[in-house]
Amino acid sequence: MSPSSKKSFNLKQLVSGSNGFWKRIILLCATLVLMVLVITNYSFLNTLSLPSSTRTTLCAPPNTQSTSAKDPSSVPPTHLHPLPLNATLSDRLTAFRTAPGAGWEPATFVKWNLETCSNVVPNHNKDLLAKSTLVWASLNSSEIMGHREKMAGFLEQKEREGVFDDPVHVSKGGKGLVGSGRGIVFTAGNADTLSRVITALRLIRHHHHCHLPALIFHFPSEAPPQDSSLRSDLALLNAKLVSATGRARDPSRQKNYHLKAQSIVDAPFSEVLYLDSDNLPADNPELLFDMPNYKRLGVYFTPDYWKTSASNPIWQIMG
Ligand SMILES: *[C@@H]1O[C@H](CO)[C@@H](O)[C@H](O)[C@H]1NC(C)=O
Ligand SMILES: *[C@@H]1O[C@H](CO)[C@@H](O)[C@H](O)[C@H]1NC(C)=O
Repeated sequence: MSPSSKKSFNLKQLVSGSNGFWKRIILLCATLVLMVLVITNYSFLNTLSLPSSTRTTLCAPPNTQSTSAKDPSSVPPTHLHPLPLNATLSDRLTAFRTAPGAGWEPATFVKWNLETCSNVVPNHNKDLLAKSTLVWASLNSSEIMGHREKMAGFLEQKEREGVFDDPVHVSKGGKGLVGSGRGIVFTAGNADTLSRVITALRLIRHHHHCHLPALIFHFPSEAPPQDSSLRSDLALLNAKLVSATGRARDPSRQKNYHLKAQSIVDAPFSEVLYLDSDNLPADNPELLFDMPNYKRLGVYFTPDYWKTSASNPIWQIMG
């Protein structure tokens, strides 16, 4: 089913306030491996504003004794609360540029992390650690600020190019709602990942009775053959394949995750539920749109199976 026919969906199936609500949410959260729910135009922007308080307090209790700029646990008050949903890009980038992490070295962060959090044992991605420990260990704060600046500069450039002046965005009062309606987005390419998406969609459609429009983005080079049964299976599930025009696999990489962000941005929905091909929802994923924190922040992430190693300075990089 194409997004343009979404009026025929029974959106009133949204469950709220029912007795089993929290139980279902907990079950859902526990089961979904990587699920990203975003209001499309906020996808990058809220990601930038979210973490400063939550991530810091998740890892270690706030250190009330030390206020040293060199102490990663000294979070400036401006970072203790997320920015409001209507904060401007400029507000968000200012917060991002000054987010905790500036002014101390990645090695300090990793040391503090290892001292305050026990290192991860279950779900530990040893491959990532083996491949990246040296990269992380040799990062310095100027490089981190350089990465942040690159991301912030990219968004500012896009703003100058008028990307956020999308007519739909403007007609909605510039509130970040680019596109319309809600929809599910997957990325897949080879027959393996497409088969997994079909399994997930069968569960979503036939078992959870969720009829949100579903799009599966793929690299143009990975389009399934016209006579592939995968195409007819997807059509029966009211799901549509979308070729990510102008995007290509990076042959030097085994993983080509850039397609994921692109598909969220390109999807024609104002609210996107992004699912990995190997996510098997334990309940109707539409319930996630009712999560209080999603409503409050405009974005909701669930962790992957793999836990982040304490020696990975990613939270310093992100602020
Ligand atoms: C954002 O919304 C709040 C109320 O919800 C309002 O007070 C504030 O002025 C708004 N800010 C912008 C930049 O529109
Ligand atoms: C940070 O690392 C980069 C790349 O290795 C290097 O060029 C730069 O000189 C380093 N900066 C400092 C202050 O050590």
